[in-house]
Amino acid sequence: MVSRVIPVQPFDLVLFGATGDLARRKILPALFHRFQIGQFDSNCRIIGSSRSDLTAEAFRSQTADAIREFGQDVETTAEEIAGFTALLDYVAVDARGETGWDAIHGKLREDAIRAFYLSVGPALFPDIARRLSETGIATPESRIVLEKPFGHDLASARGLNAALREHFEEQQIYRIDHYLGKETVQNLMALRFANSLFEPLWNSSHIDHVQITVAESIGIEGREEYYDKSGAMRDMVQNHLMQLLCLTAMEPPAHFTPNAVRDEKVKVIEALRPVAQASIARGQYRGKNGDGYRDHAGNPASRTESYIALKVEVANWRWAGTPFYLRTGKRLRERVSEIAVYFRDPPHNIFEGSGPIHGNVLVIRLQPDEGITLKTTIKDPGPGGMRLTGANLDMTFADELPESGRPQDAYERLIMDVIRGNQTLFMRGDEVEAAWAWADPIIAGWQDTGETPQPYDSGSAGPDDSLLLIHRDGRRWRSIGT
Ligand code: BG6
Repeated sequence: MVSRVIPVQPFDLVLFGATGDLARRKILPALFHRFQIGQFDSNCRIIGSSRSDLTAEAFRSQTADAIREFGQDVETTAEEIAGFTALLDYVAVDARGETGWDAIHGKLREDAIRAFYLSVGPALFPDIARRLSETGIATPESRIVLEKPFGHDLASARGLNAALREHFEEQQIYRIDHYLGKETVQNLMALRFANSLFEPLWNSSHIDHVQITVAESIGIEGREEYYDKSGAMRDMVQNHLMQLLCLTAMEPPAHFTPNAVRDEKVKVIEALRPVAQASIARGQYRGKNGDGYRDHAGNPASRTESYIALKVEVANWRWAGTPFYLRTGKRLRERVSEIAVYFRDPPHNIFEGSGPIHGNVLVIRLQPDEGITLKTTIKDPGPGGMRLTGANLDMTFADELPESGRPQDAYERLIMDVIRGNQTLFMRGDEVEAAWAWADPIIAGWQDTGETPQPYDSGSAGPDDSLLLIHRDGRRWRSIGT
């Protein structure tokens, strides 16, 4: 089916942190591409805002540069960029002071959807939310969008939720986890709940285990200040991998509506068993000539993990006895994100002596080459009797559905959902708190023991301990790259 562009209503979007890295790399290019395909027109306004004293013209020109540098690889004309930047305005704001608020107020229209996108550190969320409300800039219909990290533990997340709810209702609050905006993550729901093939087998009677991998080849360079206080557990597991786990493990919601989906995800998080330290492997990349994690972090004694693997158990009827192995890390061999569902072997092998059965594995690839692979066992074609071999049913979405066009960046979908008022792909307050309630004791466990992460080579598949974590259960990780 050819993709359809459904125009959104006129909006005024105020982007706080508009000169920051995320705005330049992701948010502004994403908005541009949706403008380019005609999802909104010149009746929309994007008001950039930050501490910097910039003219609107300078902001427009910076944004044009950002689109050229970070935009998608599609044909783009100077007219399209000029058409988009004509929608931009800029106001310098002091988040904790008086400057700028009246000017923002004066630029907003009565009859347009109002959205406030806080692409700033969480420490500023309460102040900006309060100012938006006290000045009357935010109306009961306005939307507020919060970037991650949403707190660094349960107490801080609760504090943020409480501060936001003083001024905004939950249905106005959009907490971003950009993994939910990825096409294949949404496809996971389609695969599970729009096909009758998988769901009857989607339980511990038929599934041996699940592996969720988010491997990155980049390091932490340039983000050391944030990352060294955070680590892979807070940066990736508590949010992105948790979302992948939830969508894989959740019960079918009754409808595809925001609260029905989010209710089911919360139930998964609440069913997670506490994770023993023996079920965790933490690592830190090393590299030659000042190219290791500690060099990048500027902290020679850092105990922050750039890699983590965990064995996680969902203690409910569907999943008892089927572990979920999660792993994520920086500076690994390749950039690969996938969910691999390992089905149990057939109960009886009638082909003894014909070669091993290659267990069925369903792999949902998030990146690169978004698609789905199902590993099967077949007869090796040709003479030689009944010889079994493994073969893949392989579907790469771009090949299978070429007319659906270029891959969408997660932010494109998410920002348009904010304007449309659809919260399905955003985290609810209780969901974030439940995820922190699970993560906090895990983090406290290694902080109490003062344990140091195991070094691993940059460009490898991670620390040896992560291999042991799964080998001792008689299983193996899928390889990361070739
Ligand atoms: C971010 C993390 O949320 O996600 C980064 O803070 C990480 O550390 C990034 O690199 C990964 O996102 P993606 O879309 O490139 O897989």
